[in-house]
Amino acid sequence: MIKTGIIGAGRLGTIIKDAIEAGLAPECELVGVASRSLGITPLDLVERGAKIVIEASKPEVLREYLIPLLERGVTVIPLSTGALADEDLLEKARDTARRHGGRVVLPHGAEGGFDLAATFALVPGMKGTIVQYVPERSTMPDGNPMKALPEAFKGTALEGFALSPSHLNVVIETAIACGGFENARYETRIPADGRSAFSLELENDAAEAVITVKNKAPKAGVPMMTTIALSAVSTLNRITQPLTF
Ligand SMILES: NC(=O)c1ccc[n+]([C@@H]2O[C@H](COP(=O)([O-])OP(=O)(O)OC[C@H]3O[C@@H](n4cnc5c(N)ncnc54)[C@H](O)[C@@H]3O)[C@@H](O)[C@H]2O)c1
Repeated sequence: MIKTGIIGAGRLGTIIKDAIEAGLAPECELVGVASRSLGITPLDLVERGAKIVIEASKPEVLREYLIPLLERGVTVIPLSTGALADEDLLEKARDTARRHGGRVVLPHGAEGGFDLAATFALVPGMKGTIVQYVPERSTMPDGNPMKALPEAFKGTALEGFALSPSHLNVVIETAIACGGFENARYETRIPADGRSAFSLELENDAAEAVITVKNKAPKAGVPMMTTIALSAVSTLNRITQPLTF
């Protein structure tokens, strides 16, 4: 069994913990959850033998602990991927992972199709567009962060991320899956059916593809928390199971 830890006991961290404890990552055993209230730090997880750490806390925590974890040979599955918009941190993470044998493995979060994006990026003319379908303001529940997004934005991935850095992690991880920030754009559109969704539109000189993840909840704007959290668990399976894809 591969010893695994989680950073963060909030909404995503709790779903991930429950899933691992329910046996949804059969090759992995949970050694602990780093949480300020329990007084357990991310490096305590390494002391407990963690070889893989899923981060589900906040970008500042990923920024602080990514390199120290990689220096200890740990593989990190980050969810606060907005921190990776910092290209210096990305480069340092690549270099540290190479030297110490760990890896940074990005889960797909609320988007799908990272495998296809990575294939498309091997062909000239690669362009990935991350489309966020934001229901009209009148249908949005109060307090939903998507309310703040413009209705018809078009820009580069980094320009889009800058609109709401604490909510648009998905833009960063998807841009990395597309082969780099320069290959990716971000757009917002109003969905015809009023349901929030993310689409990844891929194009290169050989082919085109569209992968859409649509919220099934009747109330528009409800975040796709289950899909996002379990993307970390399926990533854990992909890097630990003997038969993978
Ligand atoms: N990658 C994606 O597609 C995606 C999608 C949604 C959310 N996120 C990100 O995932 C992260 C977690 O989201 P959430 O909804 O579970 O947030 P949350 O606020 O419900 O939980 C975050 C938890 O992290 C804990 N925390 C803060 N500092 C800590 C520290 N130093 N050590 C340990 N724990 C610490 C907090 O106490 C809290 O329990 C956020 O950064 C969020 O932006 C990513």
